[in-house]
Amino acid sequence: MDTDSREPRYRQIARYFEQQIVSGQLLPGSALPTERELSVRLGINRSTVTAAYSDLRASGFVQSTQGSGTRVSETLWGDTPKRGLNWHSYVSGGSFVPTLAIVRRVREIAAAPDTVVFSRGELSADLLPSDQLSALLRELTLSMPLDYANPKGEAETREVISAHLKEQYRVNAAPDEILLTSGAQQALHLVTHCLLNPGDAVGLEGPSYAYSRSLFVSAGLRLFQMPMDEHGLIPEEVVQLYNKHKIRMIFVNPTYQNPTGTTLSLSRRRRLLELCEERRIPIVEDDPYSLLALEGAAPPPLSLKALSSGGGHVLYMGTLSKMAAPGFRAGWIVAPSGVASRLAEAKQEMDYGYSTILQEVTKLYLTSGVWQGHLADLRQALTRRRNRMLTALQEHLGNRAEWLVPQGGYYLWCKLNRKIPDGELVREMEAHRVAVMPGSVYGAEGSSLRLSYAREPENRIEEGIRRLAAVLRRL
Ligand SMILES: Cc1ncc(COP(=O)(O)O)c(C=O)c1O
Repeated sequence: MDTDSREPRYRQIARYFEQQIVSGQLLPGSALPTERELSVRLGINRSTVTAAYSDLRASGFVQSTQGSGTRVSETLWGDTPKRGLNWHSYVSGGSFVPTLAIVRRVREIAAAPDTVVFSRGELSADLLPSDQLSALLRELTLSMPLDYANPKGEAETREVISAHLKEQYRVNAAPDEILLTSGAQQALHLVTHCLLNPGDAVGLEGPSYAYSRSLFVSAGLRLFQMPMDEHGLIPEEVVQLYNKHKIRMIFVNPTYQNPTGTTLSLSRRRRLLELCEERRIPIVEDDPYSLLALEGAAPPPLSLKALSSGGGHVLYMGTLSKMAAPGFRAGWIVAPSGVASRLAEAKQEMDYGYSTILQEVTKLYLTSGVWQGHLADLRQALTRRRNRMLTALQEHLGNRAEWLVPQGGYYLWCKLNRKIPDGELVREMEAHRVAVMPGSVYGAEGSSLRLSYAREPENRIEEGIRRLAAVLRRL
């Protein structure tokens, strides 16, 4: 296995067997090792071997039968495989870039038993409002159409979101300017594919949210990072990027940013708006975390959308994923009505609109008021977890790293005093059963780590940091 290769591990395995078969080293009918044997032999996750075998089966190289395991197909000889359907050529085509190999590896480590998981940007099960949602679901009466409905979302749901935005975010958005989406992720997708063209230059925070980066690359955009410090991005950079590359849009997550946890200061927000307005550069503001101020912290500044005059050149995205549950997939985008309608057309083409059943749940959840109590508990729990993490970092990592103290959201950004190759980091994390995301995933230079304190209960955080310290000592 070439651990530094960008080729996924399962493909490396599949390719190895394809070569063995085509070159005649493995003859028709020969048995391949069992998935278990091979995973033990290579020291990798069994699911990787399963994926490789499934690829080989799909291309017709091997067959699996109950009782006799996986064997080279009897019907194969010589050039036959070349004529078989090779799904790999399809899978490696298409416009979606594959998930970064490093992200896949960290996910595998995070999924292993007993790993302390600081890599996932989502809440632990005990912080999800499962009971509240179950109770609401028991009350639910379906009043909305169950046929193909309005791709923007039903008027009633958009009215509820409009009121929610006004009360909680001080954002004015008429129902007509709101489009319901399957999470903020889909909103990002729609903006990218409907409003931009391959080759367009866009500015984004450096570092920035990993799944926006991959989405932009898939859409053929040219990405330019705007440097940041502890107060968020430096607005003047927009001017440089505009003059040099004619950027057509900027994407920002100004409050409790993923991955750095930083918040763009009020003065920088104003300056950014001014610079973008002068140059007519639309801003896409991704705002999943701003209701999650930690206790004792000053509330964050108003959003760019709320601060902008008229607000017309800010597209504003939100979601219930971070304060309620990602499985909800309830998201939205606020845009001038014509733009929202154009995005809705594309959404119609994609999936016919956000599920009306989930719209009922969203309406009920936001109007019942139960979420306010949940949010207060959540902020307390996240504050305790953040504090635990800070104390443990001070104790165990004090001289090896520096970090920013998050005032809200899920993430703590940690800069290491020495450069550590990602491959080595991953190997040691696996050995010590702790998972964090290397900064390179977010386009960061130097050695940095994103630690999420949302995923593990308070009493596991110190142990996780102790393991991380052991990883860094080894390196
Ligand atoms: C900055 C940012 N934007 C968007 C998303 C996607 O959110 P959703 O679950 O609403 O699609 C995430 C999730 O981690 C995020 O951190």
